[in-house]
Amino acid sequence: MKKYRSLHTVSLGLIILFSIITISSMNSCAPSKVVAAKSGVQLWSENCQRCHNTPSPTTFSPEIWETVGMHMQTRALLTEAERDKIVEFLKSAR
Ligand code: HEC
Repeated sequence: MKKYRSLHTVSLGLIILFSIITISSMNSCAPSKVVAAKSGVQLWSENCQRCHNTPSPTTFSPEIWETVGMHMQTRALLTEAERDKIVEFLKSAR
């Protein structure tokens, strides 16, 4: 009976340990290295054609791109860092 109980405690401990590892790796708020390494042009080409044609950088002035960036960040569920990179690209490539 005693042996059974300690085995039970060990396996319960392992379950808790693995849960903590899994949850902490899932909940990280820092952008993943993959995303952080992406350039504005890359993020623009990957994200901005999901719902409509990819807008050309020449379509709007730099000031308008700032506003569009805020608007589309919420639509495309982008992080602030991703939005900033995309807007930076859209403002510079003209
Ligand atoms: C989840 C879908 C979705 C994604 C992804 C998306 N858009 Fe849009 N976009 C829309 C919709 C819908 C509209 C029409 C206006 C509205 O109802 O919001 C729009 C409109 C626009 C317009 C017209 C001006 C405006 O602000 O309404 C521009 C420019 C634009 N998008 C640029 C972008 C860029 C740049 C990206 C990439 C960062 C992007 N969109 C990603 C859905 C999306």
